[in-house]
Amino acid sequence: MRFSAVAALLAATCSSAATGSVQKRDLATSEPHYPSPWMNPQASGWEDAYEKARAFVSQLTLMEKVNLTTGVGWEGEQCVGQVGSIPRLGLRSLCMQDSPLGVRFGDYVSAFSSGQTVAATFDRSLMYQRGKAMGEEHKGKGVNVVLGPVAGPLGRTPTGGRGWEGFSPDPYLTGVGMSETIKGIQDAGVIACAKHYIGNEQEHFRQVGESQDRGYNISETLSSNIDDKTMHELYLWPFVDAVRAGVGSVMCAYTQVNNSYSCQNSKTLNGLLKGELGFQGFVMSDWQAQHSGAASAMAGMDMSMPGDTVFNSGLSYWGTNLTVAILNGTVPEYRMDDMAMRIMAAFFKVGMTLDQPPINFDSWTSDTYGPLHAAVGQDYQQVNWHVDVQDDHGDLIREIGGASTVLLKNNGALPLSKPKFLAVVGEDAGPNPLGPNGCADRGCDAGTLAMGWGSGTTTFPYLVTPIDALNLQAIEDHTRIEAIFNNTASDTIESLVKQQDATALVFVNADSGEGYIDVDGNEGDRKNLTLWGNGDELIKSVSSLCNNTIVIIHSVGPTIVTDWYDSENVTAILWAGLPGQESGRSIVDVLYGRVNPAARTPFTWAADPSDYGTDVLYKPNNGNGAPQQDYTEGVFIDYRALDSRNITPIFEFGFGLSYTTFEYANLNVEKSNAGEYQPTTGESDEAPTFGNFSDSLADYVFPADSFPHIWQYIYPYVNTSSSLEEASADPDYGQTAEEFLPPGAVDSSPRPLEPAGPSLTAQPGGNELLFDTMYTITADVTNTGKIVGEEVPQLYVSLGGPDDPPVVLRGFDRMRIDPGQTTQFRAILTRRDLSNWDVTLQNWLVSEASKTVYVGPSSRKLPLSAQLR
Ligand SMILES: *[C@@H]1O[C@H](CO)[C@@H](O)[C@H](O)[C@H]1NC(C)=O
Ligand SMILES: *[C@@H]1O[C@H](CO)[C@@H](O)[C@H](O)[C@H]1NC(C)=O
Ligand SMILES: *[C@@H]1O[C@H](CO)[C@@H](O)[C@H](O)[C@H]1NC(C)=O
Ligand SMILES: *[C@@H]1O[C@H](CO)[C@@H](O)[C@H](O)[C@H]1NC(C)=O
Ligand SMILES: *[C@@H]1O[C@H](CO)[C@@H](O)[C@H](O)[C@H]1NC(C)=O
Ligand SMILES: *[C@@H]1O[C@H](CO)[C@@H](O)[C@H](O)[C@H]1NC(C)=O
Ligand SMILES: *[C@@H]1O[C@H](CO)[C@@H](O)[C@H](O)[C@H]1NC(C)=O
Ligand SMILES: *[C@@H]1O[C@H](CO)[C@@H](O)[C@H](O)[C@H]1NC(C)=O
Ligand SMILES: *[C@@H]1O[C@H](CO)[C@@H](O)[C@H](O)[C@H]1NC(C)=O
Ligand SMILES: *[C@@H]1O[C@H](CO)[C@@H](O)[C@H](O)[C@H]1NC(C)=O
Ligand SMILES: *[C@@H]1O[C@H](CO)[C@@H](O)[C@H](O)[C@H]1NC(C)=O
Repeated sequence: MRFSAVAALLAATCSSAATGSVQKRDLATSEPHYPSPWMNPQASGWEDAYEKARAFVSQLTLMEKVNLTTGVGWEGEQCVGQVGSIPRLGLRSLCMQDSPLGVRFGDYVSAFSSGQTVAATFDRSLMYQRGKAMGEEHKGKGVNVVLGPVAGPLGRTPTGGRGWEGFSPDPYLTGVGMSETIKGIQDAGVIACAKHYIGNEQEHFRQVGESQDRGYNISETLSSNIDDKTMHELYLWPFVDAVRAGVGSVMCAYTQVNNSYSCQNSKTLNGLLKGELGFQGFVMSDWQAQHSGAASAMAGMDMSMPGDTVFNSGLSYWGTNLTVAILNGTVPEYRMDDMAMRIMAAFFKVGMTLDQPPINFDSWTSDTYGPLHAAVGQDYQQVNWHVDVQDDHGDLIREIGGASTVLLKNNGALPLSKPKFLAVVGEDAGPNPLGPNGCADRGCDAGTLAMGWGSGTTTFPYLVTPIDALNLQAIEDHTRIEAIFNNTASDTIESLVKQQDATALVFVNADSGEGYIDVDGNEGDRKNLTLWGNGDELIKSVSSLCNNTIVIIHSVGPTIVTDWYDSENVTAILWAGLPGQESGRSIVDVLYGRVNPAARTPFTWAADPSDYGTDVLYKPNNGNGAPQQDYTEGVFIDYRALDSRNITPIFEFGFGLSYTTFEYANLNVEKSNAGEYQPTTGESDEAPTFGNFSDSLADYVFPADSFPHIWQYIYPYVNTSSSLEEASADPDYGQTAEEFLPPGAVDSSPRPLEPAGPSLTAQPGGNELLFDTMYTITADVTNTGKIVGEEVPQLYVSLGGPDDPPVVLRGFDRMRIDPGQTTQFRAILTRRDLSNWDVTLQNWLVSEASKTVYVGPSSRKLPLSAQLR
């Protein structure tokens, strides 16, 4: 009694103290950055697009401009997002469609490997080809903007639910993935969208409604509190590559940065993205990530998706409100014109013309006929033409599957050659009983795992499971093969795998996805790092009975393999990522040596979850306010975290074996004559405006005579001409920009260029001198084995400062080398590669610290090194 009373008292004291400290806590803040930078007519690579956009936008009325910027509402048209059209000039509504691995909700489309999986190839060409093929499929369906690729999440925590949609927690590798994918997508004639900008590293608390449904009573979404140095050196890094690759659009995220919503954070949008990087394309909101009207416009957002305040409210922060905000002067005309310019410049940049072919699929039904406006069930007509856009992309997917399979361990068990008896074990070897698309948005973990869950998915046209391909190979080889897909049928499994001559292939997996779906208690983010479906126990039990146990892991990231990986009976381990539709054929290619593995793990496999030093925030930590995620680890994530604390991983970043062997020799460093770094100076032009508009409210009234008003649909029109206030229906109406923005926020006079940004005629992506070549590094790589193979030499740099990670990746290549032959690896180091972000200078700086380059086959096997002088 006494004890529990004291305990209760203590608990009460502690919790009130905790509440007190929460209330007193100084929350991170984001500094304002205004005005919003307008497009630069001279930005290299955008000049033609700018001229075409200017010619077009100059003809538009205000309502037409608003139409371009505002979505028509959730499920308002066929794509996951569409803006209004401009019928007068023959431009149909632009279509935005998921996903980063294929055409979501399409039929007769291909299911590509995940971004993380293609990252494991360390092969720029395959990354590009995948982007191009995906772009072609979107194009073939009538999509204008592909909602991918992903660099946020970057992968701060291995449990983060959507890490697999992106590439790697290493910013350099992700930067290459972004750049190649974007070039591929845009070369196919559709606009890419780099997302989710920025600090969108976990699913928990990304949205208020979603969190409340799960019983977390929060009133604001998670705030990612990121210091300036970490922002530049880690999270912003791959977005730089995206901007340099000419990406047409960027998606702002659900989460907040320093307690300011990503879609109205003037520091990240106006300051970093449009100012410092000189981004010329447009910023669209994630779906329901917009939280204000005039404020988001002034902070640099350019397109509202899907247009309504919350799904199907029939109300919008923009649409009517944006028309009114221009008419009442709160948002200046130049900002409106800049939004329209950015959208149309991206449109023309990728080669699109006004006569866009029709959208020939529908996201909301697979029926041929259905309502054009699914939200309200209106305008029944043909909505699906079932156009087959797959081409021969299956071959590429199979190739990427093999090229991305990482051989983590091999005691001579692989490659297989006409094995006598294969015992195939694990649910992950077989089909989902409901079919490959049986779970909505792939929201389950049944059968082999070839894709995570959420909006980053597509429809499988077919899924070659591992057992499909293994059976065919076995028939050819006269191999006896038996498979058991039930992970818990221990007796049956034991009696099979302990038989004479068994080679056991154990297929296991671990899944994750987007926060709106909870699979087995995993609310998007993984709740642990173990295998699913009892996988670790399965491996242990099979390997205790079979001395030739080969493990194949399909997963969204690392799992903890500590308990079993070094068992002598586990003779090989393969990580096959999320390979998409050709899963089975790809893994069989590698198992049987038709493909000699060369992939490298794009993340670290730690011995213990705590070794990563970061985790998802699973419980709110700020009362009912925005949960606070402090990025106190700085740039030390993944291998940088383990290296800096001297923790040995099980498989290090960049590690992967081959069926042959390689040796490294003859490192050579050649210094280039790059000049001094100079901060960019000069100023922009004055903000231009294009076209004119009427200031009579009567000209904006919904044209009821011309077409019927669709319920819940978002229009640029006003419902009443009595007053702007009534038309806007904004409860806070009357607020002037001066009241909620700092002085000068709407200023249109020439603004100074950012010292770390591009000069007027340079390519966007930052100060062009950052991309000067400082050193050229070469090394010889020899295939010392008996068969042809591919090798991935990697270049790491030690920047040498007290706050720097021991090494960071700064170059790689994938080279095919014949047995006995030597090939030269060559990589360049740019000024950017050798710089740190100096928070005082607010610019990049090559520090005085002595710097070392390393070359080798992984982040911890670096046989060659040299000082940079
Ligand atoms: C967030 O706050 C930190 C600490 O004050 C600061 O270094 C950083 O620049 C801020 N980031 C943004 C986007 O405001
Ligand atoms: C705006 O877009 C809607 C939907 O596509 C269209 O019906 C309307 O005519 C457009 N308005 C103008 C002024 O172009
Ligand atoms: C949620 O928090 C708000 C305060 O932000 C409070 O008014 C409300 O009662 C809480 N709801 C529940 C179900 O606890
Ligand atoms: C304008 O935006 C406000 C919120 O800022 C919203 O309450 C209002 O309903 C919107 N008006 C229209 C017509 O959508
Ligand atoms: C898997 O095997 C266990 C043990 O034999 C059994 O209880 C279970 O019903 C089986 N599951 C299925 C889906 O057949
Ligand atoms: C980890 O999560 C998976 C998937 O929900 C589950 O199958 C497994 O049992 C969990 N592991 C542990 C140790 O709780
Ligand atoms: C390895 O497998 C054999 C059966 O082939 C078994 O007797 C032995 O105990 C296993 N060893 C381990 C370490 O599990
Ligand atoms: C497994 O054990 C069998 C029988 O003892 C032996 O012939 C075989 O070489 C062993 N295989 C491996 C991979 O160690
Ligand atoms: C806008 O300019 C065009 C072309 O000069 C002119 O025909 C039109 O009347 C103007 N509209 C308004 C509303 O001023
Ligand atoms: C505008 O008018 C239409 C047609 O009467 C109506 O359905 C819609 O709700 C009105 N919108 C607003 C924001 O009042
Ligand atoms: C102008 O209109 C916008 C959108 O309705 C509103 O938010 C803002 O308060 C208005 N400003 C003024 C000064 O009336």
